[in-house]
Amino acid sequence: MLHEKRILLIVSGGIAAYKSLELVRRLRERGAAVRCVLTRGGSQFVTPLSLSALSGDKVYTDLFSLTDEAEMGHIQLSRDADLLVVAPATADILAKMTHGQADDLASTVLLATDKEVMVAPAMNVRMWEHAATQNNLATLLARGVHVIGPEEGDMACGEYGPGRLSEPDDIAAAVSEFFQSSSPLSGRHALVTSGPTHEPIDPVRYIANRSSGRQGHAIAAALASSGAKTTLVSGPTNLSDPPGVDVVRVESAHEMLAACEAALPADVAIFAAAVADWRVAQAAEEKLKKNSAGPPVMEMTENPDILATLAAPSNARPSLVIGFAAETEKVVAHARTKLERKSCDWILANDVSAAAGTFDGNDNTIHLVSADGVEDWPRMSKAEVANRLAARIAEALGTD
Ligand code: C5P
Repeated sequence: MLHEKRILLIVSGGIAAYKSLELVRRLRERGAAVRCVLTRGGSQFVTPLSLSALSGDKVYTDLFSLTDEAEMGHIQLSRDADLLVVAPATADILAKMTHGQADDLASTVLLATDKEVMVAPAMNVRMWEHAATQNNLATLLARGVHVIGPEEGDMACGEYGPGRLSEPDDIAAAVSEFFQSSSPLSGRHALVTSGPTHEPIDPVRYIANRSSGRQGHAIAAALASSGAKTTLVSGPTNLSDPPGVDVVRVESAHEMLAACEAALPADVAIFAAAVADWRVAQAAEEKLKKNSAGPPVMEMTENPDILATLAAPSNARPSLVIGFAAETEKVVAHARTKLERKSCDWILANDVSAAAGTFDGNDNTIHLVSADGVEDWPRMSKAEVANRLAARIAEALGTD
């Protein structure tokens, strides 16, 4: 998954440049945003218009273009991406990269970047095997440049051997692999609950609450983009499924508990759902009718506490269990009590008083309460809370 990843694709000259069009499609299918730089040689094989149409963005070609520089300076262009991919990479651009030559937009961007670079070489077999190219490649590899291909096969020039550009699908897979392996939560399983629960009164009525699910969904998205395999157990919400997340939809607290237990083992579990504390003890099997006996009297019974159940000591307990405390007063004090009562590792306490506008709003003010003390986070968007939490989780699991 390349969701929210920005790729700067540099297309240099060579017959294989036509495959860069396919590569743009493959990268975008995986969720990446792709911006292209086309060298003068590259533009002999593909047009800026076709690259622009497929990438859905402007194509940059000229180092000294006033319009290009005014819209996006070449330094900015080189730093705005999460990864630079040179495909196809000619012998010439590999040589320029090796020697730090910067005489056009592509080579200048490659010299100015502070991001990692992946190259997919494509050239005639003799050029590939030449000591000059092989020395350049060794230097680039030693500098940490990622290399994919070339493949062996028939070449456009009629020769046979290594020098063919890797298939666009394989290059896109290598890009995904790059992000996966450099992701801090790669190899971890995260479980997140989100949204409200619906507790049935009868087949058509239920008890619910005001939770929108935005914070929990944002956390699941942030964990997935940090590389965790993420399971989101969600009550009914109007939100779309976060990309790259396994979503299990449930309605009641009982269903949520069962889905969470089924999702174990997990390394980290975050309970952001607003689970109903009570349910109707005996939900009616048929729709309740208005009749002369007056309104029905409903006996309530307590719901299972999902967080407390999964945080209790057991072999299946995730090593990091995080709960939320939605409070309207004495936010931190209540969170401390909850931390102990539910035996979780962290509580994210937030103020849900009407004045704070947290429910259904975009922002949240969090206090992270743990055995180590209280961290007060500034007011920030729910997406920022999610990213910060994912980074804190990676830090905590990293020291396991
Ligand atoms: O006790 P309280 O509902 O305030 O605790 C909030 C925390 O406990 C949240 O993390 C919530 O998701 C979790 N919780 C739960 N199951 C319940 C009630 C709350 O997982 N039945």
